[in-house]
Order: sequence, then structure tokens, then C-alpha cells
Amino acid sequence: MPDIARGLEGINVTATKLCRIDGVKGELVYSGYNIYDLAEHSTFEEVAFLLWNQRLPGKTELAELNGRLVSERGLDDVIARLLGELWPHVRPMRTLEIAVEVLGAIDPQSSDLTQAQLKLTAARLTAKMATVIAAYDRLRNGKQPLSPRDDLGHAANFLYMLTGTEPTDLAKRVFDVALILHAEHEMNASTFSAMVTGSTLSDMYSAIASAIGTLKGPLHGGANEAVYKVLDAIKDEQNIAPYVEALLGRGERVMGIGHRIYKTTDPRAVILERLGNEVAETSPDRWYFDLSLKLRDYLGRKLEGKPLYPNVDFFSASVYRMLGIPSDLYTPIFALARITGWTAHLLEQYADNRLVRPNALYEGAENRQYTPIAQRSAV
Ligand code: ACO
Repeated sequence: MPDIARGLEGINVTATKLCRIDGVKGELVYSGYNIYDLAEHSTFEEVAFLLWNQRLPGKTELAELNGRLVSERGLDDVIARLLGELWPHVRPMRTLEIAVEVLGAIDPQSSDLTQAQLKLTAARLTAKMATVIAAYDRLRNGKQPLSPRDDLGHAANFLYMLTGTEPTDLAKRVFDVALILHAEHEMNASTFSAMVTGSTLSDMYSAIASAIGTLKGPLHGGANEAVYKVLDAIKDEQNIAPYVEALLGRGERVMGIGHRIYKTTDPRAVILERLGNEVAETSPDRWYFDLSLKLRDYLGRKLEGKPLYPNVDFFSASVYRMLGIPSDLYTPIFALARITGWTAHLLEQYADNRLVRPNALYEGAENRQYTPIAQRSAV
């Protein structure tokens, strides 16, 4: 009996020049650049260029990309009207998924799979998805969506479109780094989903809609919102032990903990914890972050000996909360960052495509006699 690779664990499904992870050492590297260096020195736009071209941009190239992203931020009437219809009934992740499909439907170049066109599509999706989420949030709060501000970078403009005020320098930087940290992560459920759809030579929009649907689940990108709910339910340090004991007693998992690849703390969680410390200094919501630290310490003692450590979602929940972002936007924000990694993988996929078509071992019945419906039992 051949082995089944459940969850495709340990299986190499492709080669990539985009990202390398060492889960034992806790290393994350985008095209040769360590995530700690990128978080310290780079910007989200520069990382987008890096992922789409596997090298850092020159000054003119970065200015061109910034200009393109700014020029793509606006939403067509169709999308604006669509959001007006969707917001009362549809949650934000599905709204994003639907909006991406409609963006594909109204793009006459959607089926052009040349590398040059695909890079334009990648930039368009990166710019417009942020506007979609900000507009959705304004609408559901009874406010008019705001026009994007051309003088702000991608991260700052998103926070501006969401809140209506220009963010502080610290908030701009923290959110920019959060986007960098979420931009790419080698092979994972949502990236694989995009890759499978792309491998059929379906277009980039459909591939990204597939990825968004996959990211939504609580075992993947949905974990950051789930962490927020846990913190909100625990509320106080003294409730940590009974909450965790009851959760584990029911055989449930602690969200934001554990990772298929990392067997140490996820480096993105390390960076987010540092940023969280900075934001907490002036935040009225710092108790979420302080509680996260206490929960992390408790779990460290409780799960000692098991390879279960905080992942990227663990601290992103409290950091986003301290930035004043509603909790059901945490997973959409993950998508706003990961769009760069997804599209970069699709660029690789379309350039050297092979249809993804694995096998399944059949273990069902054999040699059955077909019985017409009239001769079957009434049940
Ligand atoms: N809480 C408690 N126990 C856990 C957790 C957790 N969060 N994660 C894994 N375990 C335990 C399992 O119960 C299992 O225990 P057992 O061997 O005694 O049965 C053991 O650790 C191994 O678990 P697996 O399910 O085999 O590990 P897998 O690699 O499939 O899990 C996953 C990875 C899905 C991320 C898991 O750790 C989890 O569910 N975490 C919580 C959800 C989460 O935070 N997801 C975000 C991941 S990061 C991202 O996608 C961006």
C-alpha cells in the first residue's frame, strides 16, 4: 500500500526563488533577504518589487512601482456599487473574494497570461484590494468611502482610508512592517490553492479568489481574528489558566500557537512582539498586548517539551487592535499583504506551468451490480 501524504506534509510541490524557511532555526528569507533586515530597513512596496522580480528595485524602478500602485488605488463604479450591495449581508473576507472575481470580470486583459501583463495585474490587485476593504468598513459604519491619498504610501493610505485620519509615524511604520511580515511564506495552503487554480491556466484573478477563500479558514489566516476572540474572552490574567485548561480539555487548539514548519517561535511573531511593545507605550488598548504576553508565558510552561510556539497570528491580533483596526479585518489585512506573495508564486507558476493533478488511492467498493431505482428499497 503506497503512503498517503496527508496534508501534503513534507512534499515538495514546486521549486521557488521567492522564499526559504528554516523551521528549526526560525529563519524566514525572501529571495535571499532575511526577514529581520527587511522589517528593519525596507518598505512593503519595495518587498512587493522584490517578490515580483527577485531583486531589490533601483530608485527609478521603485518610484515607478509606487506610481503604479497609487494610480491603481481607485475603484470602478461597478465595484463601488457592488460593495454597497454586499456590506449588509457578506463578511469582509468573502467580500474581498467576490470583489477580486468581479475585478477579473471587468478587466479585458484578465486572460492575458504574459509576464508583463501579470505583473500589472499583481500591482492592480495589491492596490485595489486595500481600497475595497477600507471602503467596505466605511460603508458598514454608515460613512462614505474615502478617496485614496496619493501622497501616502500603501500602508499609511490604507489606515487613512479606514479611519479618516492620517496615522502617526509609528502606526505607519508598524503597519508597513506587518504587511512585510505577511507578504510571503513559501508554500502554504492559500499559496498552493492559488497555484492549483493557476496551473489550469485559469486567470490570476480566479487564482487569487481561490487563495482568499483558503486563507479564510481558522487553521490558516483566520487564526488572527480567533486570537483576538480568545483575548477578549479571557479578559484578565487570572482567567488564563481556567480558560486554557477548559479549551485543551475539550480537545481544542489554542489559536496563534503551533505551525506546520516552525518548531521554534515564528520570527514574524518575534518582530511583532517588539513592535507591540512600542505601540503599547501609548495605546489605550494595551491590555490586549499585555494579556498576549501573559498567555504566551503560560502556554510556554503548559506546553513545555512540545514544539508549539507563537506563530505570526499570535501577536498580530493585539498589535492590530492597538492600531484601532476592527477584528474581522485582521484576516483581510493578511490577504492585503499576501497578495504580493501569491501573485509572485503565480508569476513563477505561469512561466513554467504544469497542471496540478495528483492521485487519490481508491478504497471504496468494487464490482457492484447496478439496480434500477424502481427495484431499490423505499429508503
Ligand atoms: N494548541 C494545542 N495543541 C496543538 C496546537 C495548538 N494550537 N497545534 C498543534 N497542537 C498539537 C496537536 O493537538 C497534536 O497533538 P497530539 O500529537 O498530542 O495529537 C500536535 O500538536 C501536532 O499537531 P498537528 O495537527 O499534527 O500539527 P499541524 O502541523 O497539522 O498543525 C497548525 C499546524 C494547523 C497550524 C496547528 O498548530 C494549529 O491548529 N494551530 C492553531 C491555529 C493557528 O494558529 N493557525 C495559524 C497558523 S500560521 C498561518 O497559517 C499564518
